[in-house]
Amino acid sequence: MIEEWGPDGPRAEHDLQEFSAVLHAAVHAGASVSFVLPFSLDDSGTFWRTKVLPGVRDRSRIVLIARIEDEIVGTVQLILDTPANQRHRAEVAKLLVHPKARRRGVARALMQAVENTARKEGRTLITLDTRTGDLAEPLYLSLGIRGGRNHPAICDRSRRTKAGSHHHPL
Ligand SMILES: CC(C)(COP(=O)(O)OP(=O)(O)OC[C@H]1O[C@@H](n2cnc3c(N)ncnc32)[C@H](O)[C@@H]1OP(=O)(O)O)[C@@H](O)C(=O)NCCC(=O)NCCS
Repeated sequence: MIEEWGPDGPRAEHDLQEFSAVLHAAVHAGASVSFVLPFSLDDSGTFWRTKVLPGVRDRSRIVLIARIEDEIVGTVQLILDTPANQRHRAEVAKLLVHPKARRRGVARALMQAVENTARKEGRTLITLDTRTGDLAEPLYLSLGIRGGRNHPAICDRSRRTKAGSHHHPL
């Protein structure tokens, strides 16, 4: 059900439209994922085409997808281009499940897959930003992903912390 998305397959254009639909629906359902209303389907498509696609092509970003009956219903990104002193870390971003496919374990499966992907990429720590009270908080907690101001090793030299983010050693 979970797979890594490739930008060059025969259905890539169709997939981009489905990504746009998932993000658009999630934002309109109240997701706090960097966008504000008004947020059109075109705005959503622009994000995927201009911000995500180039990163997938140069391998600084990995996009995982969940399909149900051949339709993309969920996605998560692993951002690999962390600063030079943080190569042990990868950032998890844009965990999104279409409102019509929620509470069926899609996000949990995506998070488990993204952890495995990070490990395969040689990363030993994942970090992600959340908003207190987000629907994802119980999910992150159940996966052992902790929040707080004093998480370790975000930066391996200075040990600076980043308030409002979560971390998870792999
Ligand atoms: C958060 C989100 C990704 C969850 O997706 P999902 O596929 O519905 O989640 P799952 O079915 O895998 O649920 C996993 C766990 O998350 C928690 N959870 C998910 N939705 C919840 C809700 N509406 N209320 C309470 N807990 C919820 C539960 O602990 C759940 O486990 P359970 O079903 O065994 O009780 C989805 O609601 C979403 O896309 N939200 C908008 C975007 C967002 O907030 N992304 C996270 C950014 S940090």
